[in-house]
Amino acid sequence: MRGEGAPEAEIRRTADGTVQLLRNPGLERERAYGEAERAILSVEAGREARAAIERWSGYAPTPLHSLDAMARETGVAGLLLKDESRRFELLSFKALGGAYAVERLARERGSAGLTVTCATDGNHGRAVAWGAKRSGVRAVIFVHETVSQGRVDAIAGFGAEVIRVPGTYDDAVRHSAEVAAKEGWQIVSDTSWPGYDDVPRHVMQGYAVLAAEILEVEPAFTHIFVPGGVGGLAAGVLSWLWELHGGDRPVFVVVEPDRAACLFESARLGQPTVFPGDLDTIMAGLACGEPSMLAWRILGPGADAFMTITDDAVAAMMRDLAGLGIVSGESGAAAIAGFRHAAFDPAMREQLCLGPQSRVVCLSTEGATDPSIYQQIVGRSADAVFGAAPR
Ligand SMILES: Cc1ncc(COP(=O)(O)O)c(C=O)c1O
Repeated sequence: MRGEGAPEAEIRRTADGTVQLLRNPGLERERAYGEAERAILSVEAGREARAAIERWSGYAPTPLHSLDAMARETGVAGLLLKDESRRFELLSFKALGGAYAVERLARERGSAGLTVTCATDGNHGRAVAWGAKRSGVRAVIFVHETVSQGRVDAIAGFGAEVIRVPGTYDDAVRHSAEVAAKEGWQIVSDTSWPGYDDVPRHVMQGYAVLAAEILEVEPAFTHIFVPGGVGGLAAGVLSWLWELHGGDRPVFVVVEPDRAACLFESARLGQPTVFPGDLDTIMAGLACGEPSMLAWRILGPGADAFMTITDDAVAAMMRDLAGLGIVSGESGAAAIAGFRHAAFDPAMREQLCLGPQSRVVCLSTEGATDPSIYQQIVGRSADAVFGAAPR
């Protein structure tokens, strides 16, 4: 943590001022992945998660597309997009975390009489509801006021009860915790807070499966761009790369909406920090104002840089990916939108050591998780895009 009087962290902005990059002032790149980190996330526990998830019906590693034209355009040797748009029936990577945590709880406690609950901006709740259905347990899911009806319907479609509460995602997290305490329900949250970390650890551990799948196809990439909400996904993926590759791991960049940049702010101030405001962004999955405490313990010393991007940048990227036949939702397209802006800005390129030899992986974490919003932004349905030009 930086002490009082430490120099202001240097923020780089693109020429139009819309995109920001902050090299992580708290980075300890040469620090070994130690016992403290392994107690949160480990390759050993990740292999256990992978073995469990591989047994689920419909499991297959998701595709890693090579976007050759965009690689040329952005001046890198390779650009690979991990496409989560058809992960199980959930259309996002979230299945790997929420459903894995529910399965563990059902195994440990038995499914009879177990009720699982969480707050969600859409995708995590869908994963918990799906996991509950798979494991035969009851699910009650809380959503805040701006979660779209399409996302609510998808959660209810897996048999969960959905309850809408006023305020933001973070308000819904607090509300679900209060109701769960009163009713004796088990919270399955993707974020952690003091005294609650076992379940979020399992959620994040499930996400690390993404990193394992990528390395199996592309063992030698130099950079990875990952979207950030509370930071659980980023921590899960980073932990895997850090433990396996130490200081030789790829440059790790977390990309957030400019209106919900709690991880960027945490890095700037050197400690977990709440991002104020109404978190109003089309990137629903990333509209989080409070970092996960556990995730921050990995990202704080381990992530190389943090970026913020705008809704417009993401919408443009969704349309460009649709032109390649790839369906990427509002939160899904964030990381590669961040990469493209960084690649076009000479100072950002230099700060991230991006060059003609770089092999870059970006995570596209969801498909059209809300089909009507997707169609509004892209001008075509997801089905029409899937049938479009080969990439
Ligand atoms: C599609 C999508 N991408 C990325 C994220 C970010 O994950 P995390 O909140 O673990 O940082 C989410 C979170 O809900 C999401 O739904």
